[in-house]
Amino acid sequence: MSRLLITGAAGRFGAVMRSGLARADRELVLTDIVPIEGAPQGSLVTTGDLSDLGVALEIVRDVDVVVHTAGIPDEAPFDQLLRSNIEATFNVFEAARLNGVRRVIFTSSAHVVGLYARDEPVDEFAPVRPDSLYGATKAFGEAIGRLYADKHGLEVACIRIGSFRPEPEDRRQLSTWLSPRDAVQLVDRCIGAERLSFSIVYGISANAERWWSDSTANELGYHPVDDGQAFAARIRQQGPEPGALWQGGIFAEPDYRGGAG
Ligand SMILES: NC(=O)c1ccc[n+]([C@@H]2O[C@H](COP(=O)([O-])OP(=O)(O)OC[C@H]3O[C@@H](n4cnc5c(N)ncnc54)[C@H](O)[C@@H]3O)[C@@H](O)[C@H]2O)c1
Repeated sequence: MSRLLITGAAGRFGAVMRSGLARADRELVLTDIVPIEGAPQGSLVTTGDLSDLGVALEIVRDVDVVVHTAGIPDEAPFDQLLRSNIEATFNVFEAARLNGVRRVIFTSSAHVVGLYARDEPVDEFAPVRPDSLYGATKAFGEAIGRLYADKHGLEVACIRIGSFRPEPEDRRQLSTWLSPRDAVQLVDRCIGAERLSFSIVYGISANAERWWSDSTANELGYHPVDDGQAFAARIRQQGPEPGALWQGGIFAEPDYRGGAG
């Protein structure tokens, strides 16, 4: 029996993970700063603010793998991002190291490369070009993951999620969409991959219009099944898109302050 901790388990991504990753041979430990409604039977539930290292040390213990999704998923004032995306993420990696956790799956974001133009091919080795403070906090998380993998032997996968939605909502998301079932498959492959030291993968479905390389995700055994094209006819009727030049879309606009995430 393995024990899997999901942080941010009350959130959109976390809620899909806690049902999608349930297995007979896997015990789920769920945590969030807010109460978690509808936790699967048999899962252990804790509540706490991961920006407090003492709290993180209590929560991130006696588990084999952590799926770290807690955080603010959008542009926000820096003091809020500092707590939820930087301090909380550092604390999760540090608590994982101190408590002997084997593997951490970190939900990064494609906004770490959001200031590349859409016609520039980008893979996981391209230098980061964050499109927002939010994107920069995710680049920090990836860097901490790399540090803990290289220096402490923690196994780390960083998933640069595109747009996690039930279905794509605009033109950009025809390229960036990650469907719920593909998201579950990708995280499950990251949890189960036999050989993993440090990997960055793009979290996207099998979108015909995708921009990002999915070779590393494929190496981990990820084979997405959904394609945003199924929704293209409806979406192409929409008017002009803000931030259409950039991979990050509206996040790349100079005056973007949040609200689209
Ligand atoms: N939804 C997307 O399209 C998308 C895209 C790229 C990356 N991501 C990343 O995936 C993760 C999940 O995104 P989401 O859409 O489910 O967001 P969400 O806001 O629905 O869920 C995040 C959860 O984290 C919790 N949280 C925030 N700060 C915390 C703290 N200090 N301690 C403990 N819990 C805390 C929140 O209460 C919330 O339930 C985020 O890290 C986000 O940056 C999401």
